[in-house]
Amino acid sequence: MDKEMNGRILAVPFPSPGHINPMTQLCKRLVFKGFKATIVLTKFIAKNIKGKSDLVQIETISDGDDEFHIFARQSVPDSVVRFTKHGSESLAQLIEKYESLGDPIVCVIYDSLLPWVVEVPKKLGLISVVFFTQQSAVNFFGYYSYHKLLPNPVVQFPVSIPGLPLLYLQDIPTYGIYQDHHTLVANQFSTVDKADFAFVNTFYELEEEVLEAMSKVCQMMTVGPTIPSFYLDNRIENDKAYGLSLPQDASTWLNWLNSKSAGSVVYASLSSVGYASPNVKQMEELAYGLKGSNYNFLWVVKSFEMEKLPENFIEETSDKGLIVQWCPQLEVLSNKAVGCILSHCGWNSTIEAISLGVPIVAMPMWADQLTNAKFIQDVWKVGVRVKCDENGIAGREEIEACIREVTNGERATEINKSCAKWKTLAKEAVSEGGTSDRNINELVSKLTGSLD
Ligand code: UDX
Repeated sequence: MDKEMNGRILAVPFPSPGHINPMTQLCKRLVFKGFKATIVLTKFIAKNIKGKSDLVQIETISDGDDEFHIFARQSVPDSVVRFTKHGSESLAQLIEKYESLGDPIVCVIYDSLLPWVVEVPKKLGLISVVFFTQQSAVNFFGYYSYHKLLPNPVVQFPVSIPGLPLLYLQDIPTYGIYQDHHTLVANQFSTVDKADFAFVNTFYELEEEVLEAMSKVCQMMTVGPTIPSFYLDNRIENDKAYGLSLPQDASTWLNWLNSKSAGSVVYASLSSVGYASPNVKQMEELAYGLKGSNYNFLWVVKSFEMEKLPENFIEETSDKGLIVQWCPQLEVLSNKAVGCILSHCGWNSTIEAISLGVPIVAMPMWADQLTNAKFIQDVWKVGVRVKCDENGIAGREEIEACIREVTNGERATEINKSCAKWKTLAKEAVSEGGTSDRNINELVSKLTGSLD
């Protein structure tokens, strides 16, 4: 560990696992470079999250609805207004508290979905960093081009954006009934020019072309993958635990996985976001697709989704399937028994699988997941995307075929080669002197300079 510099960083993630996890990891990397770090959670999340990190402190702020997840009880616009008001006030108080304890904050890192945060460090003259935790550079630039560069955002297909392949309708983010979330995503760009640094959770080598094209209009610095060094095999001492996670029962899934032979398990997980869930028909097709593939399967099914499973499915498949409501995904992906992931292509799951060299069966549902699926299959060549029928359903035979294709089908050799390549490059990016490490060091230099 570098010398202690006596500076504390405050990090404010959006209150959901896909954002808290990468933010925690970025904080840990800064701790390894000599800083102290505090993760700021909403009171509801802090009560419900399990596990703690010895490296990163936890503090809470109010979002104005401390008994429930703020976005679960009211509309997105109302949640944003409340969170902005209560969050800004309590964040400023928290910074004051540290100051009065003689442990001053030197920098505030905040999630791009919480653009209001930047005003707090700005007012206090602190360095600010916006962190795009949940998006590839490709998606960032796609959204950015749509919202900032096009005078009249009318989309004509195929869409042509510098640094990206042509995108067709099926590759473009869609929000369906969740239009409010699109507003949330669009608002991220208001903050890029205000923050001192803009970080994105990816690595340069993976998205070189788009990053180069983007650099002409806005500067983003890659700092990913934000995965504990333990899983990337470039271990930093003390860096095993993810730090924060949702409740989980390790004994069930770990014993089960360890009893399976190498590459014999399909790990299926479609979203950590409560409301985004496959419909009953899709759940049925997925269930029988997993069963018919003849692989073992470990399937994350959220508690409210259990009723969508076909009758007696759990009993019928107990010899080869295990259904859990949550599991530590990184540990699962790094287990030798896992041969592929069947994923909704959320950005964290995508970059985790790519960095750990696990082939992907892409089953995107909404938002940026569609573009991620395009890149998984056609650009990074680490998986295949399931085809849907005219009702948007991926059938059981299609799912079975895709699982076979990535594990031992015609494209499996090429896919495995690409997986191995990206795994190596991901590890290099975050190792000392790698592209992501150098970008983090730029922040470190700026902070060190501010302390002199
Ligand atoms: C949301 C949006 O839905 C997605 O479009 C966007 O790209 C990111 O934000 P989310 O559903 O949270 O995605 O998925 P993802 O980004 O993949 O993040 C899920 C996180 O939870 C990952 O870090 C994953 O490792 C973790 N996870 C998930 C577990 O640890 N265990 C589980 O059982 C499921």
